[in-house]
Amino acid sequence: MGISLGLVGLGSFGGGSFAALFKSHPAVDRIGLCDLEPERIAKYADNPFFKDKFNPRDAYGSLDAICKADFDALVIITQPWLHAPQCVQAMEAGKHVYSAVPIISIPDDDEILGWCDKLIETSRKTGMSYMLGETTFYRPQAQFCRRKAAAGQFGNFVYAEGEYIHDTDSWCNLRQVSKSRSIGRAGQEWKARAGEYFRRGCRGGPMHYPTHSTSGPVCVMKAHALKATCYGYRNQDGDPAHKNSAFSNEVALFKMSNGASVRIAEMRETPGSIDPTEGEIFRVLGTRGTFSMNTWFRTERPDYNNIDMKKLPTPSVTQLKPEDMFDPLPAEVQNAFKAAMHQDKAPADLQNMDFVPGGHGGSHPYLVHEFVDAVANRRQPAINIWEAARYMVMGVMAHKSALKDGETLDVPDWGDAP
Ligand SMILES: NC(=O)c1ccc[n+]([C@@H]2O[C@H](COP(=O)([O-])OP(=O)(O)OC[C@H]3O[C@@H](n4cnc5c(N)ncnc54)[C@H](O)[C@@H]3O)[C@@H](O)[C@H]2O)c1
Repeated sequence: MGISLGLVGLGSFGGGSFAALFKSHPAVDRIGLCDLEPERIAKYADNPFFKDKFNPRDAYGSLDAICKADFDALVIITQPWLHAPQCVQAMEAGKHVYSAVPIISIPDDDEILGWCDKLIETSRKTGMSYMLGETTFYRPQAQFCRRKAAAGQFGNFVYAEGEYIHDTDSWCNLRQVSKSRSIGRAGQEWKARAGEYFRRGCRGGPMHYPTHSTSGPVCVMKAHALKATCYGYRNQDGDPAHKNSAFSNEVALFKMSNGASVRIAEMRETPGSIDPTEGEIFRVLGTRGTFSMNTWFRTERPDYNNIDMKKLPTPSVTQLKPEDMFDPLPAEVQNAFKAAMHQDKAPADLQNMDFVPGGHGGSHPYLVHEFVDAVANRRQPAINIWEAARYMVMGVMAHKSALKDGETLDVPDWGDAP
């Protein structure tokens, strides 16, 4: 028997990118749909693609209502200021939970740290698992680097950098995103709450949405930050998009638990990026292996006790394509996702098509499979709350440091998942 899942938040990301994938996974038997806006659910009731696993009786108008239903797990893809309290509520109601990134994004640093603490405590107390839907973790580059790291091919880690460059006026325009998230009930409620933070003098910044840049270095090196130093750039020409933020760009340096240094950049006011579509990238440098821009560099060191100057090793350089870097997904999962990604195609046509992972570098199918498989097999997901807290806390402590003009601050850590 498979598992049952409730999808909470059917906006542009939850409804547009994830509902069909979660519905299609072969280990999911039944789905429920939940949104505060009834029209966002209504469109699924008549959609033939959802009929086999969605019964309109499983439509819910609030998180409170779906928490009372008998689902094994909830997938929460609501606005970023809501995630943490909603995940606590779901786990307390006996559901495993998947959260869109980040853990929570609100202007108060200490409140974010408090939510990390509360989520870890709730997961421990209830025995329910939490997974962060961090797309960078399942980009092909991260999958490749984790394999190389597991095989010891980097040697010792020396340095890593991660960056998320998402200019306000880029392809995915943040003015539009902010406007669309502010309509509807949840958006209206936030306007009143946000005003209270600003009256208290709390000002956020891009480091409050840090997981696309921090997760790459952390998940490859399996190390956490010990110290943070960060500087911010404050918008200087009155752009209303940045008026409630302390900074529009922030760049931080971290001392890591494995002795490496990490540079993280979170930028919202600089056009373009290295990857022209997203700017969500990382590099990892070790004493024997380095990964940068889809290229793997490896140096075999000579035997230090017997260096033969005539046979010194030459470095190897390997250019990689995404298809070289992905881990394989089980065949039945690939086939189910193919049907979800190409709902207009007949089954015979699908058989002749290759499975090409899509969504934020191909990460979406992997995120869905990891969560469903973890719930079905009663194991901790790879991006569990202990791992996710390490991504978030780097951003929080960096922002605190930037507010103190670069003072070096200790970074708290909650340890590894039990
Ligand atoms: N690369 C990535 O990982 C990535 C990319 C895009 C978005 N996201 C994240 O996805 C999340 C959703 O983004 P979006 O653009 O779809 O937002 P959205 O505003 O379009 O959708 C959010 C939905 O949640 C619903 N909702 C809020 N509170 C609810 C409640 N209590 N019960 C039921 N429904 C509720 C809202 O009504 C809305 O329909 C954001 O937190 C964002 O950070 C992540």
